[in-house]
Amino acid sequence: MLVTGRELLDIAVSNGRAIGSFNTYNIEITSAILRAAEAQNAPVFLAMGKGALDYAGFEPLSLAVIAAARIASVPVAVHLDHSPEVATIRRCLEAGYTSIMVDGSRLPFDENVALTREAVETAGPMAVEAELGGIAGEEDRAGDHATDIPMTDPDQAAEFAEATGIASLAVAIGNAHGIYSGEPHLDFDRLQALADSVDVPLVLHGASGISDDDTERCIRLGVRKINVNTEIRQALFTSLEGSLKQGVSGYDVTRLFGAAMDAMQASVEEKIALFSGRTFS
Ligand code: G3H
Ligand code: ZN
Repeated sequence: MLVTGRELLDIAVSNGRAIGSFNTYNIEITSAILRAAEAQNAPVFLAMGKGALDYAGFEPLSLAVIAAARIASVPVAVHLDHSPEVATIRRCLEAGYTSIMVDGSRLPFDENVALTREAVETAGPMAVEAELGGIAGEEDRAGDHATDIPMTDPDQAAEFAEATGIASLAVAIGNAHGIYSGEPHLDFDRLQALADSVDVPLVLHGASGISDDDTERCIRLGVRKINVNTEIRQALFTSLEGSLKQGVSGYDVTRLFGAAMDAMQASVEEKIALFSGRTFS
C-alpha cells in the first residue's frame, strides 16, 4: 500500500530501527525490491533520482512505481531522491510521490536553508528529507570520488533542521555513493553528536559497501532511513553477465531478467533483514 514517507519514519522511530530506501530505474528493479519487502514483511521507500527519471521517462517510471506501490502488501513510500529543483519536487507531488528529498548540499549554508524551506513549504506536511554536508560520489554509476567533501557539522545541522522544518536529515560522516575505494571509515563520534543535536531522524546515504557491523552501529546511534543503490545494480549486472556467459537459449527475456530479479531480491532482502534487526537465511 502507498503510504507517506512521514508514516515510514514514524514506524522506524517507534521500532528504533531503520527502513531501507532502494533506488529503482525500471519495472524489474521495482518488482525485485517489492518482492523482497513482501518476503520480509517490511516497509520500504522506493526511490527514483534524476538519472532514473531521465532514462525511463518521468511519467512511465513514476506511474509504474506508484501503481506497484499501491498493490504491494506492505507499506511503501514513493520517494524522489536528491533533487535540487523545486519544480521537479512539485511535479512529483502532483504525480503522487509521497516522500521528497531536496538536495542543496552543494550550496552555501544560507542558500541550502532557503531552498530547503521552499521545498518544505511546497510539500506541506509530507516528509521532506534534506542534506547538509556533502556525500561524495555519483548516484547512478560507480567510480572514483573526491575525498575532500565536508562532513556534516552537528551544531550547524541543529540550526539547519530548526530553520527549515525538515522531517529527516541526510548526514555526511564519511559515507559516499558508489563503490568505496578502500574500507569506509565512518566518523561515529560525529554521528553520535549529530544524533544528540538534531531532533529529526537521520538518514544514511551511500550504504552499499558499508559493513554489517558499521551499519548496525549507525542504526544504534539513530539512523532511521538507509539508502542503497549500487549493491542492487551489482546484483543485476553479476546476474546478467553470468546468464549471458552461460547463454540463454531462444533470446528468452523472462529467463534472463527473471534470474536478475531473483538476484536483486536476495540482495535487498539481506539489507532489509539487517536494517530491521533480523537474521536473513
Ligand atoms: O541516494 C541513494 C543512495 O545514497 C545510494 O548509495 O549507491 O552507495 O548505495 P549507494
Ligand atoms: Zn544518496
